[in-house]
This record gives sequence, structure tokens and C-alpha cells, in this order.
Amino acid sequence: MTFSTLEVTRHDGGLVVVTINRPKSLNALNETVLDDLDACFTALSSDAMAKGVVLTGSGDKAFVAGADITQFTSLTRESGQAFAERGQSVFNRIENFPKPVIAAVNGFALGGGCELALACHIRIASESARFGQPEVNLGIIPGYGGSQRLPRIVGKGIAVEMILTGEMVSAARAYEIGLVNQVVPDDELLSVSLAKLGVITSKGPIAVKLSLKALRLADDLSLTDGLVREAELFGEACATEDLKEGAAAFLEKRAPNFKGR
Ligand code: COA
Repeated sequence: MTFSTLEVTRHDGGLVVVTINRPKSLNALNETVLDDLDACFTALSSDAMAKGVVLTGSGDKAFVAGADITQFTSLTRESGQAFAERGQSVFNRIENFPKPVIAAVNGFALGGGCELALACHIRIASESARFGQPEVNLGIIPGYGGSQRLPRIVGKGIAVEMILTGEMVSAARAYEIGLVNQVVPDDELLSVSLAKLGVITSKGPIAVKLSLKALRLADDLSLTDGLVREAELFGEACATEDLKEGAAAFLEKRAPNFKGR
């Protein structure tokens, strides 16, 4: 699997690190990066050897410094809407990815970079990471999901403040507001992210997939409808060999050997 703007590396246990690789532009997202991310996550989705993904940025300065601003000057109402829809569709693919995705945020995560991290299932930040939705500085609004995912994750009050002021927040502040799950020293970011991913991929893969699906539904459904879907997904999990193996392993006081079926 080779891409001009991504590096894909395989690690023990089926863990995959996807690195956005445009360091001279602080990994800004142009059309090629979006196409590559789309193709990469599509391929990894059906790749039985891939159990989960850590997504990060190359270099020591940026995760992703936003959509590529060089593309902005020619945008019109129509092309702008299509531009936002394209980014949203790629980020939806990541959010709906059936295996865990951890954003290892290694520097600036601004605009589309912050939105990309928001579409991942878990965010771990290095101490030097900075987050922000600076679109208002350019006379636009977040277009890759920021106005929808940020308030769901940090609450509306903080999201309004971040989007209307365009101000950056530090990694420590990002942790305080629930934007990231954990902050770690810069040189430990990748190892901590891989370790967290390894914890998740050691669990039953169907249980992880169905948990992600149930959690995703919580964004869209009422509590009543969400509980109906949760019960259905619980039933689906109960029809697996993994349940029998997990319960037997507990009762026999041994580690489970999940087969993912
Ligand atoms: N799109 C295109 N190029 C970008 C970019 C973006 N979103 N962000 C940074 N770059 C480019 C810069 O133009 C510069 O290119 P150059 O070396 O050819 O001049 C290079 O990346 C390095 O950035 P620079 O601004 O020199 O680094 P800095 O350390 O002074 O500042 C930032 C870093 C992230 C604060 C600053 O680059 C920035 O504000 N970027 C834009 C962030 C943004 O508004 N994103 C949302 C877009 S909707």
C-alpha cells in the first residue's frame, strides 16, 4: 500500500501507523491527502491483518495545520460546499471505520487538523500539541465537521468559544476540556498511542466493532431509539463464538483467545 502523501507502517499485533507526510506545508490537507486517506482507510477496513490504526503527522511541528489554504482563493459558493462535503465524507469514513483509530497529535492540529483528530475515536496529544479552529481568521467556518463534532466532544460553550475566537488551546487545556484523552511527553507519543491501541486490539474484535457502532449511533439517535439499537447490537455480540470464549476464559481463569467470529 503506497501513497504519495501518506506513510503506512506495520507494527506487531496488526497495529498500523498512518503518517500524513507533507511536512513542508505542516501536513496541510490538499485533495491528494484526502484521496489518499480515503483509499488508505478503505483498504485497511477490509485488511484482516490490520487490527487498528494510529494516525499522526510527520515532522515535529504539526499533526495537520488545516486544509491547504492555497486552495481557498478560487472557492465559490458551489465549489466551497463541494469542498466541505468531500472532507466530511473522508472524515466520516474514519469515524465509521470498524476498527479503533487513535489520533496521535504531535503538534499543531488546526482547522481541518483539529477536525481530523475529532473524527478519530481517541485522541492522545504530545505536550507541545496545539488545537484550534482558526477558520474565522480566514473569513470562513469549520467545514470538515468542526461545528458538529467539537460541541459533541467538549460541550457547546467551549466549542462556541473556540470557533468564534479562533484561539488555539494548549495540550493541557485540551485535556482539561475533554478534547484529548491523554497528554504525554513528545518522545513518548507514538509508543503510548501504540500501547493504548494494543490494549483495545487485545479485546474481542467483534465486541470492539459493535461498541464503536453503538457509540456512533449515540450521536444521531434519541435515547429511546439508541437503547433499541444497543439491545440489537448486544444480541449480535451474543451470537458470536467470542462471547463463549470470553466467558469460558473468565471462568477458567485464563486469557481469552478471541477469533473474531
Ligand atoms: N495550508 C497551506 N500551507 C500551510 C498551512 C495551511 N493550512 N499551514 C502552514 N502552511 C505552510 C506555510 O505557508 C509555510 O510555508 P512556506 O514555508 O512555503 O512559507 C509552512 O507551512 C510553515 O508554516 P509557517 O507559517 O511558516 O510556520 P509557523 O511556525 O510560523 O506557524 C502555524 C505555524 C500553524 C501557526 C501557521 O502556519 C498557521 O497559522 N497556519 C494556518 C493554520 C490555519 O489557519 N489552518 C486552518 C485552515 S482552514
